[in-house]
Amino acid sequence: ILNIPIISVIAYFLGSIPFGLILTAISGGGDIRKIGSGNIGATNVLRTGKKGIAAATLLLDALKGSVAVILADYLSHPTQTIPAMACAAFIVVIGHCFPIWLGFKGGKGVATSLGAIWILAWPVGLICCAVWLLTARITRISSAGALVAFLIAPFIMLLFAPYHAFLDFPLATLCITLLVLVRHTSNIKRLIHGEEPQIKS
Ligand code: G3P
Repeated sequence: ILNIPIISVIAYFLGSIPFGLILTAISGGGDIRKIGSGNIGATNVLRTGKKGIAAATLLLDALKGSVAVILADYLSHPTQTIPAMACAAFIVVIGHCFPIWLGFKGGKGVATSLGAIWILAWPVGLICCAVWLLTARITRISSAGALVAFLIAPFIMLLFAPYHAFLDFPLATLCITLLVLVRHTSNIKRLIHGEEPQIKS
């Protein structure tokens, strides 16, 4: 039984594991931060041409988001489960975006947020993933998909959050959306100027 500050610390360190950087390096792809957008996420790993490594990055980055929320669910005091899960969901994304190991210069939080949101309320995770993939497929721009998915995420969470979490989960999702938007500032500027690169198949 752990209190929320301890659970938050665990979530931060889980989120701070830079899977994209590690997997790209051990697969001989070099430093992902010196390739493409410089981001450590799956979209940028895909730009190395290593599709399997990109898929593994997406999966593991999402998984750490899910694990943080599951741990909060199981390890928190029974009276604090809902706020603990909400905190863990936001803080695991903070860990991914600002990892201590990389001088606080991390990723944009898309996969990790989706993994966390999936555990908060799976229909929201499902809808956001579908919207992300569909928009990315139509536009062939990963960031466009992510932005549309996260813009609608807090509203969908309002509809699907369990009744005893009707405030905590939408609030956590709103915080996540704001963080994801801030982390996509350069993408948003490129999108406005029509300069955001498309995914090559
Ligand atoms: O997952 C982040 C994605 O939305 C954008 O990544 O590398 O195109 O900036 P990137």
